[in-house]
Amino acid sequence: MPSFLTSIVVSFYLALMIPATVLASGTFSKHFAKTELTPTARKMTRLHFYFHDIVSGKNPTAIKIIAPKGSFGMTAMIDDPLTIDTKPGSTVVGRAQGLYALASQHDSALLMVMNFAFTYGKYNGSALSVMGRNPVLDAVREMPVIGGSGVFRFARGYALVNTVRYNPKTGDAVVQYNVTVVHG
Ligand SMILES: *[C@@H]1O[C@H](CO)[C@@H](O)[C@H](O)[C@H]1NC(C)=O
Ligand SMILES: *[C@@H]1O[C@H](CO)[C@@H](O)[C@H](O)[C@H]1NC(C)=O
Repeated sequence: MPSFLTSIVVSFYLALMIPATVLASGTFSKHFAKTELTPTARKMTRLHFYFHDIVSGKNPTAIKIIAPKGSFGMTAMIDDPLTIDTKPGSTVVGRAQGLYALASQHDSALLMVMNFAFTYGKYNGSALSVMGRNPVLDAVREMPVIGGSGVFRFARGYALVNTVRYNPKTGDAVVQYNVTVVHG
């Protein structure tokens, strides 16, 4: 650990000592003490949609890729539709692509690692990245939005989510997502 820290400090000093002209031509990195790329006046967007996690039937959108003996460690890869309304057939605004895993030995807390790949309106082609803890039995869960692309460059924010429908027989669930992000 100390040598790791030392190497960070040393590389930092080296980066400072290299003249700007060396960094200017097709180099690996360029340091901006004061950057114009990061907008000072950030935009804020609120998104509201429903996440359909379909584990049953012929066309599941969530597939278990790790199935340990107990439930701890269970991992599913998802490509879940995100819709405007709670109905599965309502307008799709994007897809939640990534995975969730049961990361707690004490309760039903999932680790969520996913991208929301939007396909709707001006958000088509833009994405948000979420990584957080999701204790699925809690009425309301909060997960951090840690980044984004397209219109969501520089995004950070949070998602407040609650389960709208859960079928204990099939395991299918519909979850409401309220996402607030600031971005470039
Ligand atoms: C989203 O963008 C893709 C690629 O540019 C395009 O093919 C598709 O028709 C667009 N979808 C919508 C709903 O605008
Ligand atoms: C999400 O937003 C909807 C509509 O604005 C609201 O009814 C609901 O209570 C919100 N849910 C959470 C968990 O914030």
